[in-house]
Amino acid sequence: MSEAIAGTNEPPNCHGGLEKLDQEFSYWIDEGGGTVPKDLTGTFFRNGPGRQRIGGVPFGHWFDGDGMLCAFSFKDGRVHFKNRYVRTPKYVEETAAQKILYRGFGTQIPGGITRNLFKMPANPANTNSILHGGKLLALNEGGHPWQLKPDTLETIGEHDYDGQLAKGQVFSAHGKVHPVSGDCFNFGAGISGMTLKGLQACLNLYRINPEGQMVQKSKILLDSFPFCHDFALTQKHAIYFINSIVFGGMGSVILGRKSISDQIHFDNNVPMQVVVVDLDTLTEVRRFETAPGAIIHFGNAFESGNEIVVDGMYASDFEANDTLSDVFNSTKFGGGTYMRFHLNMGTGAMTSERVSETESEFPTFNPAVIGKQHKVCYTACSVPNGADSFFNGFQSVTFEGEETLVTLPPGLYGSEPMFAPADKAAAEDDGYVLEVVYDAYTHKSELQIYRANNVADQVCSLKLKHHVPHQFHGFFTPQVFV
Ligand SMILES: [Fe+2]
Repeated sequence: MSEAIAGTNEPPNCHGGLEKLDQEFSYWIDEGGGTVPKDLTGTFFRNGPGRQRIGGVPFGHWFDGDGMLCAFSFKDGRVHFKNRYVRTPKYVEETAAQKILYRGFGTQIPGGITRNLFKMPANPANTNSILHGGKLLALNEGGHPWQLKPDTLETIGEHDYDGQLAKGQVFSAHGKVHPVSGDCFNFGAGISGMTLKGLQACLNLYRINPEGQMVQKSKILLDSFPFCHDFALTQKHAIYFINSIVFGGMGSVILGRKSISDQIHFDNNVPMQVVVVDLDTLTEVRRFETAPGAIIHFGNAFESGNEIVVDGMYASDFEANDTLSDVFNSTKFGGGTYMRFHLNMGTGAMTSERVSETESEFPTFNPAVIGKQHKVCYTACSVPNGADSFFNGFQSVTFEGEETLVTLPPGLYGSEPMFAPADKAAAEDDGYVLEVVYDAYTHKSELQIYRANNVADQVCSLKLKHHVPHQFHGFFTPQVFV
């Protein structure tokens, strides 16, 4: 059990929440306060790095921890929990050896340059998951999806859409399902070939039909290899922000001297580009250029006349990477600025405005309104509560910018707030917000449930028998998997 930081009255920081969870559980939750809503039916899946070190040696980046899925299943007012690691080669072999055997985004194999020479980063399958075409997939932008059994979370294997996803073609962690067609759109950063100037960078674009077949592919050529993690989807368009985060000196990476994380940086001389893609043809229809910046995660987007409106969490630097590459010593995991961008498809003009005053990340909203003007969005927040080393609150933000902030007690740390619709929901915000919270005093986690139309109203809290390491992303499905 953690206590106040030695010699101070300060509450414990977030670091315990980064420690590994080796055990895999499956049980009905029977501790907590309040009553589980009877009109909440389905499964809340989450993915994230379940372990951040092996054999006592920390990985070199939060992005390199091994993917561990959790599932909270809601049925008749009861909740079942399970967690299981994705059995990637990295997980299986490093578990057996109890040492680092694979490179990562920011992790080098101990032993010097020759151990890393010409080795590609492993895919830890740790960032997000999606249920589409009848398949539950664990996603990481550095590789192919990994398919799991949704009822047990057992690993089935790497998934390449019947060979449509070529070896080396990556698949981002933020695929999105079009609410009308049911098609899933996704992308991956890639190399399209060689030109006189060198390697030709591109975004590979994919469309997967509701039956789970990859039915369309295309590519968008870019000036340089993109740091592009997420995108926004309207009814007609996909929007990609090509950030001012650049990859430099990749020769040192290939030769084993440096990790990718070592070699990426924010370049104030590189404008941010915004590429708008037509969803029918998967071709570029307009490109905007604006001041340097970076957007890692997007909220909703929609068409309004000749304009495309896109919400995103904006940063003017990439200092977050310093935190992410040294998680056990970092004392500040910050968010971005919640911005709204207006793209005029007629004139090519682009404007922006700030939506929320509170430091925000991990935006989520009711996926039923993807591509339509939304009423409300939810974000994880970093707020000054006396222990602001991680996300320690969350908020609802109306389209007009009205905030309702929930600040956790000092020493408790939050996560991406996830909207879950009530059974027979009648409105966009008719449902609940699910928030996994790490209690640094007890070193255990709980699932807190709030009313989505008034997040100040907490409905219940479900206490787990253990902690859940801080995770990245999740989703809710009305399907029950136990
Ligand atoms: Fe993400």
